[in-house]
Amino acid sequence: MRRVCHAALNLLCCYVAAALAAQTETRGGKPRDPVFLGDISNQTVAEGRTVRFACRVDYLGPHKLAWIHYENSAILTVANHVITRNDRISVTHDKHQKTWYLHIADVKESDTGKYMCQINTASAMTVAGYLTVVVPPDIVDSESSGDVIAQEGNDVKLRCKARGSPKPIVTWKREDGNPITVNKTLSVIDHKGEVLTLNKVSRMDMGAYLCIASNGHPPIVSKRILVSVDFPPMLWIPHQLIAALRGNEVLLECYTEAHPTSLNYWTRGDSNMIYDSEKFHIEHKVGNPGYKIHMLLTIRYMEDEDFGTYRCVAKNPRGETDGAIKVYDAGPPATTTIATTIPTEVLDDINNQVLDRSPGARGRKRTQLQSPGKAVDGTLKDSSRPPYADGLDLFEISIGTGHRSMASRSLAALVMVILIINRTLLS
Ligand SMILES: *[C@@H]1O[C@H](CO)[C@@H](O)[C@H](O)[C@H]1NC(C)=O
Ligand SMILES: *[C@@H]1O[C@H](CO)[C@@H](O)[C@H](O)[C@H]1NC(C)=O
Ligand SMILES: *[C@@H]1O[C@H](CO)[C@@H](O)[C@H](O)[C@H]1NC(C)=O
Repeated sequence: MRRVCHAALNLLCCYVAAALAAQTETRGGKPRDPVFLGDISNQTVAEGRTVRFACRVDYLGPHKLAWIHYENSAILTVANHVITRNDRISVTHDKHQKTWYLHIADVKESDTGKYMCQINTASAMTVAGYLTVVVPPDIVDSESSGDVIAQEGNDVKLRCKARGSPKPIVTWKREDGNPITVNKTLSVIDHKGEVLTLNKVSRMDMGAYLCIASNGHPPIVSKRILVSVDFPPMLWIPHQLIAALRGNEVLLECYTEAHPTSLNYWTRGDSNMIYDSEKFHIEHKVGNPGYKIHMLLTIRYMEDEDFGTYRCVAKNPRGETDGAIKVYDAGPPATTTIATTIPTEVLDDINNQVLDRSPGARGRKRTQLQSPGKAVDGTLKDSSRPPYADGLDLFEISIGTGHRSMASRSLAALVMVILIINRTLLS
């Protein structure tokens, strides 16, 4: 009896003492020691459910049966009485089955442990069963990171505190499925642990991170943490020199990167901001990732005053940058008044028609011209030739040998000839 009779079991000891007295008194009869009819089955239940332990005893006689929670050193019940103040505990007795039931309602994680069914014989008899309380994983928001904004080059520490039973495993992943760059030498698809440290973050680390907590008991939970990496604008210009012809459409392009998103605009020379108008079309395409912007400025038809320097500008709270694009006159040296007065539509039509005859050259509408050695968007393959040479070759092929001498004349003259021939052929 001494062994189980520690401080917290005082109450039981009182019962035991009383029972021993009773037992001694009834020794005269035909005493028979109690017998357990089997083990106590272990139980695994989800938090909030009700659980029941059964203890079968024969020949209990005048003895008392108590339920004890071993880890808490708590006597829960003695005979039909609930001793603990825990109102989730109750006890029932099925006389026919010789079974004593311990009921625990609304099970909590703290109820986990060993439950002993004990009989107050001279040396106490005990059987025990284990309660495992399963708590699905949960992420403690108050102890976990929220969205983070960091400057490029700084370290970022993300934390996800998970609760549950058994203890959940926390796994980190990037929402876009890309590897997580832990540091310069280590990239991983997933990272295990409540803390994820990103060393010296770069813009590539920007995005949503998920911490996922699981413990084998559904549902698996996750938290989404957005990591923003701020940096000053950067700019890249594919073509800084653009040759253009009067009356033609010209496309100017800049690529920018900035976070937070920069204010992007175009200027003429150093000052005047360019707005969308009949002459200019401005389009800024958001790239992927979203901190990349493709700036496009279309000059719908070049006039004398449109030659010169244009600037694309990008500004954000971290800084500002700009770059220049020079549009220069690629007109043939011997320009005539006819050349400058041919409407763009006519020129476009001619181009389209001529180009349509060359196999596989469909959809080639833009008449943008580039400075030598700079490829545009894949439409002008051999850009080392003079801007108008393309049309010229086709012209020669389609018209025939009789007009080969035309090649030496100006583009304007050629255009006129095409117009005339078209008319002649069709009439
Ligand atoms: C209950 O669990 C304990 C410990 O996990 C184990 O020693 C015991 O054998 C189990 N009892 C039964 C009846 O399965
Ligand atoms: C990168 O991180 C791993 C794991 O934390 C560490 O073992 C390694 O030394 C780090 N490398 C550098 C260059 O910091
Ligand atoms: C060629 O002539 C036809 C008939 O006059 C006309 O419809 C067509 O637009 C002309 N093509 C060009 C490129 O001028």
